[in-house]
Amino acid sequence: MLGVRCLLRSVRFCSSAPFPRHKPSAKLSVRDALGAQNTSGERIKVQGWIRSVRSQKEVLFLHVNDGSSLESLQIVADSSLDSRELTFGSSVEIQGQLVKSPSKRQNVELKAEKIKIIGNCDAKDSGFVHIHTPIITSNDSEGAGELFQLEPSGKLKVPEENFFNVPAFLTVSGQLHLEVMSGAFTQVFTFGPTFRAENSQSRRHLAEFYMVEAEISFVNSLQDLMQVIEELFKATAMMVLSNCPEDVELCHKFIAPGQKDRLEHMLKNNFLIISYTEAVEILKQASQNFTFTPEWGVNLQTEHEKYLVKHCGNIPVFIINYPLAIKPFYMRDNEDGPQHTVAAVDLLVPGVGELFGGGLREERYHFLEERLARSGLTEVYQWYLDLRRFGSVPHGGFGMGFERYLQCILGVDNIKDVIPFPRFPHSCLL
Ligand code: 4AD
Ligand code: MG
Repeated sequence: MLGVRCLLRSVRFCSSAPFPRHKPSAKLSVRDALGAQNTSGERIKVQGWIRSVRSQKEVLFLHVNDGSSLESLQIVADSSLDSRELTFGSSVEIQGQLVKSPSKRQNVELKAEKIKIIGNCDAKDSGFVHIHTPIITSNDSEGAGELFQLEPSGKLKVPEENFFNVPAFLTVSGQLHLEVMSGAFTQVFTFGPTFRAENSQSRRHLAEFYMVEAEISFVNSLQDLMQVIEELFKATAMMVLSNCPEDVELCHKFIAPGQKDRLEHMLKNNFLIISYTEAVEILKQASQNFTFTPEWGVNLQTEHEKYLVKHCGNIPVFIINYPLAIKPFYMRDNEDGPQHTVAAVDLLVPGVGELFGGGLREERYHFLEERLARSGLTEVYQWYLDLRRFGSVPHGGFGMGFERYLQCILGVDNIKDVIPFPRFPHSCLL
């Protein structure tokens, strides 16, 4: 049956007359195209993103959506218009004839005469849906108390009342919102401003920075997460190097001589993996004197992170399985002991220290319930706990500080030099 339909379609293509020189096509939204009454071959143009690709020997089927309708528009094209860039997520402009569809599944379809790729979508990106997580939030995902609280200014302020009825803050991470959305779209990411009231003047802290965060459902191991992180680090660096070589060269020449080789060294080697426990052992045996004595159960300091990266030959190194006591409530319990750890992972890189932070999330209801109860957070995070009641799946994710990434690949020593308007304690110019 399918074969006959395909054959019919290809016959329709072969029999159509060579395209005449015609007046410019009218641009229609997908919604308008789907609702068009005139389906006798009117020439139109549609712009949108590819939602599916089915490539057959002689015919190519695409589904394109521009967000104007839940339904996508079916595009039927001769296979000569096929290209490797026609992948899920690529943005395209398609010109052709709007015709009545022979299939019962849709009324109309667009018989493509020309397909122009506006922006291709690397296969590795496909499947990650971009979510705009909120900047104003009522939760503190990191639980580290580094929140900026939000109040209406001056006379708008109503005494004793919160504008949102609950205390509201500037986001410290979009993770918890991404976890909600990963339950619908499997793989999601966000990229946006993030705020931390950290009282730090260091060369790697800002009060406002950008973070790329991803959340992936059905991930069972840190290994899988680390693979995504390593690929993201390397693919992005390659893209920056190939798209703006002059800018990178300028930085490497005048700001960080030798950085080109250091970056190449990072890109051509496999990142290393050591456990937190091993890392503490390495630090304890170090000949160097640290300001903060390394000790199991205590957070790694920048000086420790930098030492570990050097110890690993200046190749980025993943540190995995941190003590449960120093990580947020959502980290997945490794159920080990006596040194109790969670499935957390940080990526440390030369010159900067921690660049990525993430891990597997506690998807088991009773484990999470107990952790929340122990921290007195059950009420506030009831909605988060509920996510574990309805079709919970193993999942995990991570966040990467964008400015720290720029520091790392460009070799810029101070984070305040990779952002035009740095915000930090006692400074908010303009
Ligand atoms: O390690 P963090 O705190 O992880 C989270 O917020 C997770 N909820 C992310 C997730 O799993 N979705 O922050 C992630 C990264 C850090 O590794 C660092 O690169 C960057 O964000 N970062 C900062 N960058 C600049 N200034 C600061 N004050 C930063 N704090 C964190
Ligand atoms: Mg961290």
